[in-house]
Amino acid sequence: MEQKVFFIKTFGCQMNERDSEIMAQSLAGYGYVEGMDMYAADLVILNTCSIRAKAEQKVMSQLGYLRKIKEKRADMKICVAGCVAQQEGVRIIERMPHVDLVIGTQNIYDIGALLETSTSKGSQVVTDLRNDYDIPRFLPELSLPGATVSNISPTPSFGFRKFVTIMQGCNNYCTYCVVPYTRGREVSRKVSDIVDEIKVLVESGVREITLLGQNVNSYGKTNQVDLSNENYNFANLLKDVSEIKGLVRLRFTTSNPKDLTDELMRCFQDIKNLCPQFHLPVQAGSDEILKRMNRKYTIAQYTEQVNKLHEYCPDIALTTDVIVGFPGETDEDFEGTMNLLETVKFHGSYSFKYSDRPGTRASEFKEKVDEEVKSARLARFQKRQDEISLERNREYVGKIKQVMIEETREDGSRGRTGTNHIVHFEECLPFLPGDIVSARIYFAGQHSLKGKIDS
Ligand code: 5AD
Ligand code: SF4
Repeated sequence: MEQKVFFIKTFGCQMNERDSEIMAQSLAGYGYVEGMDMYAADLVILNTCSIRAKAEQKVMSQLGYLRKIKEKRADMKICVAGCVAQQEGVRIIERMPHVDLVIGTQNIYDIGALLETSTSKGSQVVTDLRNDYDIPRFLPELSLPGATVSNISPTPSFGFRKFVTIMQGCNNYCTYCVVPYTRGREVSRKVSDIVDEIKVLVESGVREITLLGQNVNSYGKTNQVDLSNENYNFANLLKDVSEIKGLVRLRFTTSNPKDLTDELMRCFQDIKNLCPQFHLPVQAGSDEILKRMNRKYTIAQYTEQVNKLHEYCPDIALTTDVIVGFPGETDEDFEGTMNLLETVKFHGSYSFKYSDRPGTRASEFKEKVDEEVKSARLARFQKRQDEISLERNREYVGKIKQVMIEETREDGSRGRTGTNHIVHFEECLPFLPGDIVSARIYFAGQHSLKGKIDS
């Protein structure tokens, strides 16, 4: 088979990163190998994100740029995948006729086969979105007839940290959010598929797994879970996965506070390899705004969850997402968000200016907040968060932390704590990526820590 080279650029979330891997795996079956040089590639894939207007603009400008490259290299194929592809569909081809394939969020598994047919058919748009579908088993080896965890040979090239998608889509309809439209209804993967996939990864040398979904807390509430026990939930899945022999660290993202149960919070106490790190997006610090966002919890409920989490796991590092300038957000509402920063003292946060997304309810809300007001609020929020993150990081100085090594080089090494803090070491350490070392933290910066091996 003639070998072709693809180059893939991923925008957006970890879910998209995993989807890019899946596309790479699908393409491998059609004679493609991954290359690092976009200009030399036979196929360029943009795996896109449309969560905010800015993310989408980036994709469009990148496509404009690719048009110029394709003028010189007519045989180059261009594929747009992911959330913008799903949302815009044929409009992408209308605006950018040099695009060969537009492939939606549920169709990525077929990318290899679709590219074969696109040669004969001209530009193709495949963006079917079903409410009920089986998420294919990936690793592809596991999809072969008769394959079981014990009879496929482990692939030693998986690295040491991996994402595993446990569900797709979202049913929550937060009024600002495009995801239910770009990724469809919530569908959970089968427990056995998830567990098998992780077993293969761990047998191949992976030490850390992050379970992914738009709202992992509602895992199992939706179809496709082959359960003998219909009360099986995300806490059960966490326990089952954590018991896989050889799995050193387990994480998950993302959670919605409205579905966060006591049982799940208790997992941070009970499951020893579950990392003490939790991303719990709050979005706003005002009950009125939360209501208009359709988040279905109050700030009092959120802070109660935070207190419980600290009770179960005193070392837990909490992070969050915040939107400023949601339609109708007053100065007083915004002060609520600032106050929440002081109450919780998040280790870190991702904060964004609200932007209208197509088809969402909030895009129809009047009372839009001025851009300058949004920018001023964002700057104030981020400045205070930076100070708090530094304070939080300084709490680690003098402490011994378990660090998983990620990279060792002549001029220094890098690893990560269970709380998800990067630790730099000055020397080249005699360890391999994935090894756990004890380190004494001696310096805290804004974005990372410095440590020395504690022997
Ligand atoms: N405008 C701004 N931020 C948004 N997010 C989602 N939709 C929007 C929007 N329309 C943010 C939320 C979410 C994160 C992934 O992106 O904070 O948690
Ligand atoms: Fe972006 Fe959301 Fe799609 Fe992820 S699921 S790529 S964050 S729009």
